[in-house]
Amino acid sequence: MAVIRSIIRGIGAHLPARIMTNDDLAEFVETTNDWIVERTGIHQRHIAEDGETTADLGVAAARQAMIRAGIDPIDIDLIICATATPDRTFPATAVRIQSMLGITKGAAFDIQAVCSGFVYALVCADNFLKAGQSRRALVIGSETFSRILDWEDRSTCVLFGDGAGAVVLEAQPQLGDRNDRGIIASRLRSDGRFEDLLYVDGGPSSTKTVGHLRMNGREVFRHAIQKISGIIEETLLASGYAADEIDLFIPHQANKRILDGIAKKLDVPPERIIITLDKHGNTSAASIPLALNHAFEQHKLTEGKLVLLEAMGGGFTWGALLVRW
Ligand code: ACO
Repeated sequence: MAVIRSIIRGIGAHLPARIMTNDDLAEFVETTNDWIVERTGIHQRHIAEDGETTADLGVAAARQAMIRAGIDPIDIDLIICATATPDRTFPATAVRIQSMLGITKGAAFDIQAVCSGFVYALVCADNFLKAGQSRRALVIGSETFSRILDWEDRSTCVLFGDGAGAVVLEAQPQLGDRNDRGIIASRLRSDGRFEDLLYVDGGPSSTKTVGHLRMNGREVFRHAIQKISGIIEETLLASGYAADEIDLFIPHQANKRILDGIAKKLDVPPERIIITLDKHGNTSAASIPLALNHAFEQHKLTEGKLVLLEAMGGGFTWGALLVRW
């Protein structure tokens, strides 16, 4: 039976030009390159210049995605931007991106699910496309986490960086069988009981400030492996595919030790996992499209490949999504 599926037509990414290495960080906070590499796998991160905003990074990524898809901005009728670091409290960064791209039709809005934001945004766009409400969507993950870091807190400031990634999704009829391209299955979860383990200590309604990121790293670590492995298993079950049929795992890039733990639990060989966090640290909602873009540029994302995305972030929120390229 024919079904509508959301096909990924194009992918793009953008990192700010300025690189901050672990040694650069060690000049102003008590840490070492060895500690950061050993505990996290991160070697460097990119930091946006003053005045370079989440929308600027998102627009650069979106432009590249549209060029690679061969799609003009005028053909886009939905923009969803996943971000926890918007340019302004309102209007949505997605609306700003819409205007910067010269798009005046369709709808644009932000999604806030922190590090799971890109998976949440993809699932949301997929549902708009499958429902027939939109035809071509730009799904963007863009962050300037450097703005909400406490640069005196060595337990958090070494982990995060800035960046953006984007995909163009298009609704296309497929046969409804195992050869279908596009998004095949997804699962989203959240549990607000854990909000105090990873949060920002400010906000317009509570403190009237922007605030800084705060985290209980050990507890986040403990929950991450268990929750992410669980949602991957649920998503695979819903899709009818087994873990050994997945060509590429594209995880949220938070910490190499979390990724190793998940790979071990699910018995995934390291060559099927894309890891880019060494180059840009944890970029929250931007990290999955940045890793997707890396896989694309390495010619690993060829047509027909089965790709599993997964993430967990503040809230907690977490989710996974299976897509055939
Ligand atoms: N440099 C040097 N020493 C440090 C640093 C640093 N940057 N940060 C902490 N330390 C010290 C601590 O002060 C502590 O010292 P003490 O023993 O004298 O008190 C020691 O290192 C151990 O601290 P822990 O917090 O126990 O270190 P741990 O091994 O847990 O590693 C880390 C910390 C890397 C944050 C880890 O807990 C982690 O990766 N957690 C997951 C967090 C994460 O990835 N969050 C991202 C968002 S959520 C997500 O995306 C899944």
